[in-house]
Amino acid sequence: MKYETVTWRNDKVVMLDQRRLPTEEAYVECDGPAQVAEAIRNMTIRGAPAIGVAAAMGIALGAMRLRVKSKGRFREEFEGICRMMMETRPTAVNLSWAVQRMKDVLSGYGEEGLDGLRRALKSEAMAIREADIEVNRQMGQNGKRYIQNGSAILTHCNAGALATAGYGTALGVIRAAHEEGKDLEVYVCETRPQFQGARLTAWELDRDGILVTLITDSMSGYLMSKGLIHLVIVGADRISANGDVANKIGTYSLAVLAKAHGIPFYVAAPLSTFDLSLGTGDEIPIEERDTREVTHPFGRKIAPEGVRVWNPAFDVTPHEYVTAIITERGVAQEPFATSLRGLFS
Ligand code: MRU
Repeated sequence: MKYETVTWRNDKVVMLDQRRLPTEEAYVECDGPAQVAEAIRNMTIRGAPAIGVAAAMGIALGAMRLRVKSKGRFREEFEGICRMMMETRPTAVNLSWAVQRMKDVLSGYGEEGLDGLRRALKSEAMAIREADIEVNRQMGQNGKRYIQNGSAILTHCNAGALATAGYGTALGVIRAAHEEGKDLEVYVCETRPQFQGARLTAWELDRDGILVTLITDSMSGYLMSKGLIHLVIVGADRISANGDVANKIGTYSLAVLAKAHGIPFYVAAPLSTFDLSLGTGDEIPIEERDTREVTHPFGRKIAPEGVRVWNPAFDVTPHEYVTAIITERGVAQEPFATSLRGLFS
């Protein structure tokens, strides 16, 4: 059966519960915006583009449920729903990008009735979802030339169909190369503490018939030193104007290791992942999550009671370690500041 990361069904936002994969394929139905916000927070849905799409759908759902008569009251309540979405997860800029697109619908709307506005908000959310899939396919076309026949690829976390509305960013590039008939092998880091690599990426690639080898995070350096990896490709949660990349914790270590071993390090990300208002990656807010994710994987205690824990969910890879950033509009390379300005102009 084909799976759907996030969709709209019977006036509900329906998402595949990623916390339960790979053992169970269960869907969660969100009846209102608070449920969508909670699903983003507790990682029922995750991945930068996917949480942007979910937030937009949650806002559309909220607008539909609002039982107010005046445009003024509608606007106040709408702002509250947008704030609630924005407060869920701070690092992925796709979320604020999608919320802004929904706000733009409201500000661009004239004096027509509220029902028309509700319909316009729903169409915008659906358009964001559809465009995300298209953009990923385009990225796949732009990036597949970096993958030669017979390549062994290393990836981290999950930047696949599950992290987007469909097809994926980094996994989209891998998929496009696979669809072209190239023979590939993908090594997947398990990605502690939430195991997105083991639980989600291995599951996704295996379903597509792509050869997958799972490793623990600490095995990547040795794997590279043995000459077993030809390229690394990952997704991103936010990219600053100079090309610094925030992505899942552990990405920076892989980039440094890749450079030390002369292995190209690629990032695949849509334009909605760029935050050109930030000069460097130092300005990217990094989410810190519950320490229990580290001390209690899968609910089982593995560390002494009361031990101090640090749990940043993302890190920042300086642009010097990035070979190229693949987007739907083209590929950016050093000097990234100039190259990115070109892509956005
Ligand atoms: O904490 P998560 O699972 O939301 O983190 C996801 C990642 O870091 C992905 O690599 C990133 O969002 C790119 S997804 C196309």
